[in-house]
Amino acid sequence: MSEWQPGDKRPDTASMLRVNQAGEYGAARIYAGQLAVLGRSSPAAHQIARMAAQEQRHLDRFNALMAERRVRPTALQPIWRSAGFALGAVTALMSERAAMACTDAVETEIDRHYEQQLQELGDQDPELSDDIRRFQAEELEHRDTARAAGSEATFGYPLLSAAIRAGCRVAIAISKRV
Ligand SMILES: [Fe+2]
Ligand SMILES: [Fe+2]
Repeated sequence: MSEWQPGDKRPDTASMLRVNQAGEYGAARIYAGQLAVLGRSSPAAHQIARMAAQEQRHLDRFNALMAERRVRPTALQPIWRSAGFALGAVTALMSERAAMACTDAVETEIDRHYEQQLQELGDQDPELSDDIRRFQAEELEHRDTARAAGSEATFGYPLLSAAIRAGCRVAIAISKRV
């Protein structure tokens, strides 16, 4: 990895933390919405509850880093609160597979997003990079869990997946700034 030199652009780690915290918050809310619909007893609900617990740990870690580094959270938290929950609830109402298709789509975008951040960070913030790398691995496990549960066999999968992925990309772009 090349070292930072005067004139190079420094990665904006405050913005990175802001968008990551927003994303983990959104993920936790999606799973909360799904569990509100599915209850806690079905096998799918069991898997979702396990993933939700990991999202909560990701969220707690970014909350702690933001407090430590005095980074303000996104002003859009109330929107992600309801939008995340609604996305989770609606997909779970469609079917358990649709709920998994939602996870598949969201984690695909989060993986891409974390990969971009790791490239941008290089070796400039090892503390943050370590967390991102660890969380990225767990997001990929979530995606694999969703695929193993039949996400791709959901009725209307290509359209549903494309719509959710587009929504994630918009949410990521906005949360970097606002
Ligand atoms: Fe996460
Ligand atoms: Fe996840």
